[in-house]
Amino acid sequence: VKPIILDVDTGVDDALAIAYAVRSPEIELLGLTTTFGNITVEEATRNSLVVLEKLGRSDVPVHEGSTRPLVRTKEAYPRHIHGEHGLGSATFSAPAKSKSPLGAVDFIIETVHSRKNEVTLVCVGPLTNLAHVVRRDPEIARLVGRVVIMGGAARRPGNVSEYAEANIFSDPEAADIVFRSGLPITLVGLDVTMQTLLPMSSLPAWREKDAELGGFFADMTEFYIRFYEDAYPGIGGCGLHDPLAIGVVVKPELVETEPMHLAVELAGEQLARTREVPGERPNVDVCVKVDASGFLAHFLGRVI
Ligand code: BDR
Ligand code: CA
Repeated sequence: VKPIILDVDTGVDDALAIAYAVRSPEIELLGLTTTFGNITVEEATRNSLVVLEKLGRSDVPVHEGSTRPLVRTKEAYPRHIHGEHGLGSATFSAPAKSKSPLGAVDFIIETVHSRKNEVTLVCVGPLTNLAHVVRRDPEIARLVGRVVIMGGAARRPGNVSEYAEANIFSDPEAADIVFRSGLPITLVGLDVTMQTLLPMSSLPAWREKDAELGGFFADMTEFYIRFYEDAYPGIGGCGLHDPLAIGVVVKPELVETEPMHLAVELAGEQLARTREVPGERPNVDVCVKVDASGFLAHFLGRVI
């Protein structure tokens, strides 16, 4: 069983990743850490508590993290993608449980030190929390088991600009610190996540299985799929970005990786591009191929 900390900016696909992690016996979910990104950090924390409560896993602690990028100002939140409160058109009431008094950065540092070389960090939002961890405790790079990051686009266009993917774009300086840190990183970027699409046709089964919980997830996902279908006509579903990061932990054979040196562009038109630098020592294992149908079947088998 792999102990993981899941770092989230809980919008729709983050919520699906939480469900997938909770339903995967290969994983011991030590805690969630939250960041701004799809929504504010306070909303990410609330949404994470709501999703855990719906899944019957309020025992998993939620540690709140970064409110803003390291140096930039966050311009706007993509409420047209993840919905007004971040969970599509799902409805919910305030969670019964509160966040943990321990902040995200302290929780990550303490946990990694207490379980040396065991913990997998799965980061599926902007990399601000992890950059703070590395700055405060550079030793972490050799104490953590593995870091799986959803972010970037090595060999395909981005989703916020021709070059940039949303998580890297939300805090490019944080991504730069993380990529230079010596952490053992596997990058699950748009190269693979834009191939793992969840179609609208999978939603009725969810609602039928369990009107309450299935309806909650189907309502949020329907909103997200509609955005994808508007933004990319004919795509046939939403990208399962954050769930694929969990998929890579649970079933590594779903992807093929290639070691690369990736640098983060910090200025100009290509801001936040994760650019391959040939000839430099590799700093990231980049997922370049995915068994999309195998992943979709596994994901659906677990969450529905
Ligand atoms: C990533 O950006 C966020 O909107 C999603 O939750 C995902 O982590 C995809 O680019
Ligand atoms: Ca996310």
